[in-house]
Amino acid sequence: MQESAPRVTDDPKHLGVQAAVAAALEMIPPDSIIGLGSGRASMEFVRGLGARVKQGFRVRGVPTSQITADLATELGIPLTTLAQAGQLALTVDGADEVDPNLDLIKGLGGALVREKIVAASSDRLIIVAGEEKWVETLGDHGVLPVEVGPFGAALCSRRLAALGCVPKPRGKNGSPFVTDNHNIILDCQITTLAKPADLEREILAIPGVLGTGLFLKMAHTVLIYHETGVTKHERSKS
Ligand code: A5P
Repeated sequence: MQESAPRVTDDPKHLGVQAAVAAALEMIPPDSIIGLGSGRASMEFVRGLGARVKQGFRVRGVPTSQITADLATELGIPLTTLAQAGQLALTVDGADEVDPNLDLIKGLGGALVREKIVAASSDRLIIVAGEEKWVETLGDHGVLPVEVGPFGAALCSRRLAALGCVPKPRGKNGSPFVTDNHNIILDCQITTLAKPADLEREILAIPGVLGTGLFLKMAHTVLIYHETGVTKHERSKS
């Protein structure tokens, strides 16, 4: 697991990140409860939100990982649980791949199950991602994270490989990456996905699989940042 909240300040696209964060902050209704994603882009959003809260903006957050919860607490952002919050106004999160339909691959930060639950509990999912995350077809970067229960990990690995998604260890020295839910992330080597929804169904049918990094038809708005600014994409209704 990551030890401290990651930053993107060394990124040449830092100004673009700030523009994307500002655009996401504008979308938050006052007095709302929102989901807080995980990863570098999400941490930049949480930092921006913390600055707003210091100025008196009223909001509560539901974090998708311990690292996000720790940063939000440090910045004075009031937190609540998903159980207490119920439906959320929106969630702001990052992504590892975004295709032109605004379908996503997420989970390289290891928080995909909580991220998907929080996103599914939200009226809107807003994604903040660098231009390097934009792909023609999902799978272009070659990795699909899948979260599995430790007891079923061996079976899951064999069945995933049989589907053409060969798991490779993520942790140092081949040790497994353990999530906040005490599960294991299997990073599966994939090629471009012709039918991501079919693959999602097949993977979820494996006993022991708890979730995949495929976020299909979930994102409403994607803010893609680059060196000089941000481009906003809205999902067309379908
Ligand atoms: C966390 O589990 C992930 O889904 C992240 O949202 C994703 O990996 C993007 O992270 P970065 O913003 O750090 O690239």
